[in-house]
Amino acid sequence: MKILVTGGLGFIGSHTTVELLQLGYDVVVVDNLSNSRISVLDAIEDICGKRPVFYELDLRDQSAIENLFENEKDIQGVIHFAAFKAVGESVEMPLAYYENNISALISLLQCMMAADIQNFIFSSSCTVYGEPSSLPISEDAPVQKAESPYGNTKKVGEEIVRDSAAVHELKAISLRYFNPVGAHQSSKIGELPSGIPQNLVPFVTQTAAGIRSELKVFGNDYPTPDGTAIRDYIHVVDLAKAHIKALERLIEMQADGGVFETFNIGTGAGNSVLEVINAFEKTTGVKVPYSFAPRRKGDIIQIFAHTNKATDILGWKAECSLDDMMRDAWNFQQALADPEHILNV
Ligand code: UD1
Repeated sequence: MKILVTGGLGFIGSHTTVELLQLGYDVVVVDNLSNSRISVLDAIEDICGKRPVFYELDLRDQSAIENLFENEKDIQGVIHFAAFKAVGESVEMPLAYYENNISALISLLQCMMAADIQNFIFSSSCTVYGEPSSLPISEDAPVQKAESPYGNTKKVGEEIVRDSAAVHELKAISLRYFNPVGAHQSSKIGELPSGIPQNLVPFVTQTAAGIRSELKVFGNDYPTPDGTAIRDYIHVVDLAKAHIKALERLIEMQADGGVFETFNIGTGAGNSVLEVINAFEKTTGVKVPYSFAPRRKGDIIQIFAHTNKATDILGWKAECSLDDMMRDAWNFQQALADPEHILNV
């Protein structure tokens, strides 16, 4: 069975491509390399012994997608990762975010309808919930006004997919990711932020490696047990596996469209920033120099997932612990320091 993975060389896309290939799916990857490296293709082949078919193209180019669907007959489903994802950058460049994340989604859906491809998985985020009024947060909690253009592209993206599924032959699942971290156990693929990392775990690993002198912990006066903000960190391989379960559900479903479902993809456990640092230090034996800094604008206090829906309906549950996430993120960071690492050559 042939699956199209957009953004398939990015952090979550590459891990999902690996899981698909290892299960025997044929994978076609599309990526414009705006925030990924072509060498990830070699890394994927190294892990799986198989190479996905690759197209370097931008999804905003609708004729390029039409040509792709013309060349690649029999695509059974699309997993759509390709999007910009930096919250702060989105505040500075709202139009670039709306253009990239929303235009590409619309073009892709239009081409899918024309090519009669029904199964669609959308990368969404727990950011659609805003600051939760109760925890753990479940899928039926209200979606709130987005705090950033990035968050709004996820909120509006879900609406576009839902409204399209209502009238077209489209079956769609939106996966609301909590905080994806970690790396593949092989250390051949992982998170590769360009420039200074904005997210916590890449900053932790780069600080531990001596690339950054100190981690700033944003806020120690939150109303949480240790004063730092709480998130639901999820191992990227667990997250990748959730996509396979969602895809299987769509493929097995006896419907000609009209399906739109949302699932939380998290562990169900909340951890504070200090707990993440402690888990990293305990697992790796490496100290992370840090100091406290003011709260980061737009950050919520705490969020973690109610995961029963994903367990009951998708038959999926996160398996990796926070320690596993820290170990794999660190192993990847260390492996990258080797100039002979597959992503460096
Ligand atoms: C944000 C987005 C989320 C998106 C994710 C990936 C929101 C509300 N959340 O998650 O939708 O999918 O980025 O881009 O839009 N922290 C520090 N020091 C640092 C970095 C982070 O203390 O140097 C803290 C943050 O304040 C936060 C926690 O670590 O409390 C996690 O931050 P981060 O990894 O950036 O993820 P989110 O902001 O939760």
